[in-house]
Amino acid sequence: MHRYTSILLFFLFLQLFFAVQPCHRVVTSAAAGGRWQLLQKSIGIVAMHMQLLNNDRVVIYDRTDFGRSNLSLPHGKCRNNSWELVIKYDCTAHSVEYDVLANKFRPLMVQTDVWCSSGAVVPDGSLVQTGGFTDGERKVRTFYPCNGDCDWVETGDGLKARRWYATNHILPDGKQIIIGGRRQFNYEFYPKTSSPDVYTLPFLAQTNDLDSENNLYPFVFLNSDGNLFIFANNRAILFDYKTGKVVKTYPAIPGGDPRSYPSTGSAVLLPLKNLDAATIEAELLVCGGAPKGSFEMATKRKSAERKFLKALDTCGRIKINEPNPQWVMETMPCSRVMGDMTLLPNGVVLIINGAGDGTAGWENGRSPALNPVLYWPGGAAGSRFEPLNPSTIPRMYHSTAILLRDGRVLVGGSNPHSGYEFTGVLFPTELSLEAFSPPYLDSKNKYLRPKIVSSTASKGSAVALIGTLLKAASHF
Ligand SMILES: *[C@@H]1O[C@H](CO)[C@@H](O)[C@H](O)[C@H]1NC(C)=O
Ligand SMILES: *[C@@H]1O[C@H](CO)[C@@H](O)[C@H](O)[C@H]1NC(C)=O
Repeated sequence: MHRYTSILLFFLFLQLFFAVQPCHRVVTSAAAGGRWQLLQKSIGIVAMHMQLLNNDRVVIYDRTDFGRSNLSLPHGKCRNNSWELVIKYDCTAHSVEYDVLANKFRPLMVQTDVWCSSGAVVPDGSLVQTGGFTDGERKVRTFYPCNGDCDWVETGDGLKARRWYATNHILPDGKQIIIGGRRQFNYEFYPKTSSPDVYTLPFLAQTNDLDSENNLYPFVFLNSDGNLFIFANNRAILFDYKTGKVVKTYPAIPGGDPRSYPSTGSAVLLPLKNLDAATIEAELLVCGGAPKGSFEMATKRKSAERKFLKALDTCGRIKINEPNPQWVMETMPCSRVMGDMTLLPNGVVLIINGAGDGTAGWENGRSPALNPVLYWPGGAAGSRFEPLNPSTIPRMYHSTAILLRDGRVLVGGSNPHSGYEFTGVLFPTELSLEAFSPPYLDSKNKYLRPKIVSSTASKGSAVALIGTLLKAASHF
């Protein structure tokens, strides 16, 4: 049979399969759809936040205010903090450093509450991490990559405003911009150079829904023209952070349903195209979220009245540099809220983690979305999604996924409760770490994978390597 005919038949088969398969059931695709590996049964904390550093180590943290974790601090250290909400004297860790190559972890000591904080890696390779809850809301903390015994360095109240659920982005000058956060319709920079230190951003007030907000943790990307693309709730602006001016206002995403916390979707900037043209083609993809009103339904006081609405099963895609940009909508194989999207090295998007029903927030998610899905940006419309093999571990509220240097995806976290809860709950606190190997790591694809043939890098060879990668990708 001709190769393309068989591919076409395969996709037709898949569609038939999905037509009869309810999405909350585990879907095992017929093809070799990636591989799951349990790396650690327990790292002692919840991988609520993860950041890969340049030495192949991952900094992971949860929060300091929800009880004792399952990992002791080293050298008999303890936090003695009278501000602390749950335990004032805590000898357990709420952060770890995970060594990818050795598959080992060690406890770190974070001083203040990093829960729902934000951060970015700066040019010297360190993670500069800001904000959080209560005693952490204005803190700045730095973690320098090291091969020894280093730990978090806290530099005090480095932020002017409280930042809880804010988004950070590294800027071309090496500074970070820190945007929004709960009840903060403004932004600031770190480190500080000029005053005033806090600048208003009315877009954040305009996109803030009464009662449910639906615009926290905005999706922020640096555009090729130097402006920031900022998406919150159901719409976006192009923003000149140097002058504080909105350069462009994009249309609302069709349907108008929210895509930001607690109706948490995910967003990714697709690989840029037309790099030599006057206008670079930059395209943004936003997937999942929850219908308007989902948070209110999931959080009704009387438990009998609580309803967990089906999450959104749509993605919107938009070319942000076009003169008249329009969203193009597509339908995922399954609905998903609290999903994580990661751009893989072959330019394909991995959609992973989250739930099929409900929203983010305590106890608000149902129907774990166990199957990752690939999105092929260059595929024919209507056949871009490819469901992959499922995990067995629900990754609900407070779960994460990040790309590792070897092409695997590190997956961890999940804790929809206000404390560590291991028994008698629908979705126990998850301390495990898994690796997901996308299909490009299957042994049958070995011959397609790019190899490093020389260690003397130059611009030309880097471009050739990317070319090979993309060519290989189009064969998978
Ligand atoms: C964490 O510790 C608690 C209490 O000591 C225990 O019940 C639970 O099984 C531990 N969980 C893991 C994953 O180690
Ligand atoms: C914790 O600090 C307080 C003072 O802030 C002190 O009175 C108390 O003894 C300390 N607790 C321990 C166990 O060190």
